[in-house]
Amino acid sequence: MRIVSQVESTTSSNVMIITASLIHLNAVCELEQQFGAEAFSKRSLRHFILQNKLKVFVDNFGNVIGSAILLRRKNSNTTRLYSFIIDNKYRDKGIGQVYLEVLLQDVQTKYIKLEVSENNTAAIKIYTKQGFAIVDHKPNYYKDNSTAIVMKKTVDLS
Ligand SMILES: CC(C)(COP(=O)(O)OP(=O)(O)OC[C@H]1O[C@@H](n2cnc3c(N)ncnc32)[C@H](O)[C@@H]1OP(=O)(O)O)[C@@H](O)C(=O)NCCC(=O)NCCS
Repeated sequence: MRIVSQVESTTSSNVMIITASLIHLNAVCELEQQFGAEAFSKRSLRHFILQNKLKVFVDNFGNVIGSAILLRRKNSNTTRLYSFIIDNKYRDKGIGQVYLEVLLQDVQTKYIKLEVSENNTAAIKIYTKQGFAIVDHKPNYYKDNSTAIVMKKTVDLS
């Protein structure tokens, strides 16, 4: 699916992150299926889009190759990275690392936090490389009973 709209963040010619609109809903739903039992429903994704919480990653050809959900409560000093996914056709090529770095450049809170399964080696690796540190563990957090690792990063707002 080829979808392009306003570019919000770029660091190089092939990194584009845009706030999703409803035209992205089907593409994001397809991506989310890759989370299996943990995937958000179409209804939830629609909600995140309408609240401007969902970002999509677009390549040079307008293909949606990943997405992220960023949540922030009013008056909170912490943004929560609630979902981060790269289409499995594009994984393990350094793309996740690049999009994560660009995504984090727009965070305007002092802290950013996330939960990740202790078994998700690739995700833990890219979060650690971006400066996230483990601050907590939540046993039996996921539907497969795996433990969530809570990771936190202090954002340089200067
Ligand atoms: C996590 C995810 C976003 C990473 O995206 P990606 O584009 O594959 O990431 P990169 O290629 O930039 O980096 C992945 C790193 O993990 C390593 N890696 C990948 N699979 C691995 C595995 N099974 N064991 C150990 N390391 C692994 C890669 O070698 C790479 O490390 P390197 O840069 O030192 O070589 C992607 O795998 C994904 O979308 N997974 C499904 C959704 C998900 O789990 N999201 C996180 C939820 S918290």
